[in-house]
Amino acid sequence: MRAALVIGGASGIGRAAATRLHEAGHRVIVADINGDAAQLAAEELGGESAAIRLDVTDEDSVAAGFEGVGDLAVVVNCAGLSMPGALVDLELDHWRTTVDVCLTGTFLVLKHAGRHVVGGGSIICVASLNGRQPGAGMGAYCAAKAGVLMLVEVAALELAERGVRVNAVSPGLVDTPLTAGIAYVPGLTEEYLDNTPLGRAGTPDDIAQTIAFLASDASTWMTGAAIDLNGGAHLQRYPDVLGKVRALAEG
Ligand code: NAI
Repeated sequence: MRAALVIGGASGIGRAAATRLHEAGHRVIVADINGDAAQLAAEELGGESAAIRLDVTDEDSVAAGFEGVGDLAVVVNCAGLSMPGALVDLELDHWRTTVDVCLTGTFLVLKHAGRHVVGGGSIICVASLNGRQPGAGMGAYCAAKAGVLMLVEVAALELAERGVRVNAVSPGLVDTPLTAGIAYVPGLTEEYLDNTPLGRAGTPDDIAQTIAFLASDASTWMTGAAIDLNGGAHLQRYPDVLGKVRALAEG
């Protein structure tokens, strides 16, 4: 049974990806900084699924996680967070945390996945619409996710000689715990959807299905690619997150 490590697999898109890969016949290892939630997710998957606690910002933790699970056919990195704020106000700590988790975390995952994924294997990183479309108030996240897209291209070049493929998915707005807060900002969801030609937010499974495709033999000639999954939002403009948050703060 081919093993798949899903990092950030305890919630949202990662959890949906773990389910799809389990259904596709992989032995899934759910990894997350929230070890209890990872355990719960693995128990719900059942079969030979397992869980580990892993923090993508800590190289010892990433290295130990990969050492512990051995050879892998698939690695998916879904760990991520966003700390919004206008550049002129953004706390350095918030910048560093966002870049640490989203970009440095991706580097550490690619570094160790590159050593443990077997020939013919597949690595999938979750980037974002914000990797190509700027959003006011989202400087740290946009910069980190743009970096993820470029790292995926470099990793695809470097790992091709071992027959390992590296691709990205770039979701737009998806209903997960990460985006639950936008419901409290009046008009923000509406502006997102007005700028989404297909007119709805994504589900975690909308993203998981494409992750499963990139993990499968249906995509064996794809590497260094980034797939936009956003209902067409990349064709229009990003909503004014900063303006809406400021309006809320000013009452
Ligand atoms: P989520 O908050 O539901 O799941 C993220 C998971 O990552 C959580 O289980 C969390 O514990 C884990 N995590 C956070 N920091 C970690 C760390 N240092 N080490 C290991 N695990 C860590 O969020 P969601 O929405 O499922 O996000 C998954 C990925 O998709 C993220 O990279 C996010 O940036 C990206 N994304 C999400 C979008 C959305 O609208 N929900 C849109 C575009 C991209």
